[in-house]
Amino acid sequence: MKQVTSLCFYFAILALSLGAFYVHAEDPYRFFDWVVSYGTIAPLGVKQRGILINGQFPGPTIEAVTNDNVIVNVYNKLDEPLLITWNGVKQRKNSWQDGVLGTNCPIPVNSNWTYKMQMKDQIGTFQYFPSTLMHRAAGGYGGFNVLAREVIAVPYPKPIQQFTVLVSDWWNVDHKVLQQTLDSGKSMPSPNGLLINGLPSSASFTAQKGGTYLFRVSNVALTTSINFRIQGHTMHLVEVEGGHTMQDVYDSIDIHPGQSSSILVTLHAQVKDYFIVASSRFTKPVLTSTAILHYQGSKTAAAKPLPIGPTYHIHWSMKQARTIRWNLTANAARPNPQGSFHYGTIPIARTLVLANSATKINGKLRYAINKVSYINPTTPLKVADYFNIPGVFSLNSIKDTSPSGPEVLGTSVFDINLHDYVEIIFQNNENAFQSYHLAGSDFWPVGYGAGQWNATLRRKYNLIDANPRYTVQVYPNSWSAILVSLDNKGMWNLRSAIWPRRYLGQELYMRVWNNEKSLYTEYDIPANAILCGKAKQA
Ligand SMILES: *[C@@H]1O[C@H](CO)[C@@H](O)[C@H](O)[C@H]1NC(C)=O
Ligand SMILES: *[C@@H]1O[C@H](CO)[C@@H](O)[C@H](O)[C@H]1NC(C)=O
Ligand SMILES: *[C@@H]1O[C@H](CO)[C@@H](O)[C@H](O)[C@H]1NC(C)=O
Repeated sequence: MKQVTSLCFYFAILALSLGAFYVHAEDPYRFFDWVVSYGTIAPLGVKQRGILINGQFPGPTIEAVTNDNVIVNVYNKLDEPLLITWNGVKQRKNSWQDGVLGTNCPIPVNSNWTYKMQMKDQIGTFQYFPSTLMHRAAGGYGGFNVLAREVIAVPYPKPIQQFTVLVSDWWNVDHKVLQQTLDSGKSMPSPNGLLINGLPSSASFTAQKGGTYLFRVSNVALTTSINFRIQGHTMHLVEVEGGHTMQDVYDSIDIHPGQSSSILVTLHAQVKDYFIVASSRFTKPVLTSTAILHYQGSKTAAAKPLPIGPTYHIHWSMKQARTIRWNLTANAARPNPQGSFHYGTIPIARTLVLANSATKINGKLRYAINKVSYINPTTPLKVADYFNIPGVFSLNSIKDTSPSGPEVLGTSVFDINLHDYVEIIFQNNENAFQSYHLAGSDFWPVGYGAGQWNATLRRKYNLIDANPRYTVQVYPNSWSAILVSLDNKGMWNLRSAIWPRRYLGQELYMRVWNNEKSLYTEYDIPANAILCGKAKQA
């Protein structure tokens, strides 16, 4: 169900003189007014309460260009406090805009709040969704595309057109009922189906024979990894979460929760319709959603069988992940090679080994990282930090490696020195698939392996051309290793992108910090900041 609604979309170029050191035309502004409300939708044929943005499900796609200022005024017309997070938008010096409960007070019911973000030095395909409660199980999500500036050449042929493709899983169950299920200590039920742009089988993309098109594919699912493929066509992977890749050719590609990939497709086949397929990975039964690639002028419907993709195969996925390599000579958001920063040669300042676990605390299901199951304090960590409000969090709340003993509830915050170069091992000793998203900094996923990580395995790292990204998968009973330069000062969320896990505690924050207060390293609290919890009286 997709309504065409006229968006309040203004585009203004302001020439301002920024007195201090130089005078230049300020980067362009893009303004959005978003009304977030409930509305009846029926993605799988069952009428239920959806979360719409300006009447739309999925929400409108944000199209921006590197360095643009994106101003989104969000009106909360739901019946619960709301925040929207911008998954993969770096928010340089500005964790105030990240839209998670550790950085922002939620937008109260019948109130509005304006996000002010800059796409500083960013390109790529990203996504947004509500970060509060289980709201995203009802919608509220959309695509967030940051295009290169005209002066920056991208390393692939200019597509005729780009398509935003959002793959999600769906439950024929109200988001509050799902939340109550989790609150009562039970696990999340399996989804009822998969959707492509909010539809199980009827999304359609029209394109011309001979043309090359860019598909910006995001997995916005709450729990489900997907395999994406197009009948009769191969795909060139050109960009993954902000890094230009080596454009290898794939018949199908795995995309895990929270991840996004840009794929170039050339229409070289006979004029007819073809199936676009997203099917679930590592689930029983396998869920499948289809869309249509419609060749202009085609009068022939897409014909089955659907192209076959991997289903349970874990090793296949791990192998494919290792083939995604960074194009070191391509431009990044700036006109210099992506690989000019040799990430593999930088000494590691600190290693964190983060182990996830599922447990019961007070008889109820919880998930934890290094034995701490996160609970949100009523005062956002960032706000407490700014006003020096004690008693909200402590910096000794989580250990660098998983301690022995039982899981506990807590508010885990890592204390990280600004500019520290950190190795993080995600050690998954559960027989369950994991996906982790880090806000504020992209990272290099340097290794994936089975079993238990140990320091000897560093020899197997890809220290040359791992493609940087914001979201990394961890296979069952396996580990994934990332290297990250934590040079973005602020309070940053490291979360499971598997949403019921995150809702039940599988997340933490990184306080990337130095004691020098300067607007050159971090912006001040926004003038419109909402104050809640212990900050209300401050
Ligand atoms: C709420 O929206 C109004 C415009 O309708 C705007 O002037 C105001 O700044 C917004 N409030 C916040 C806190 O962003
Ligand atoms: C890498 O980027 C360069 C520079 O833009 C481009 O010429 C080249 O085709 C790209 N290589 C691959 C394999 O994508
Ligand atoms: C490290 O792990 C590898 C792979 O599981 C194993 O072969 C090796 O013996 C381990 N080394 C040490 C020192 O534990």
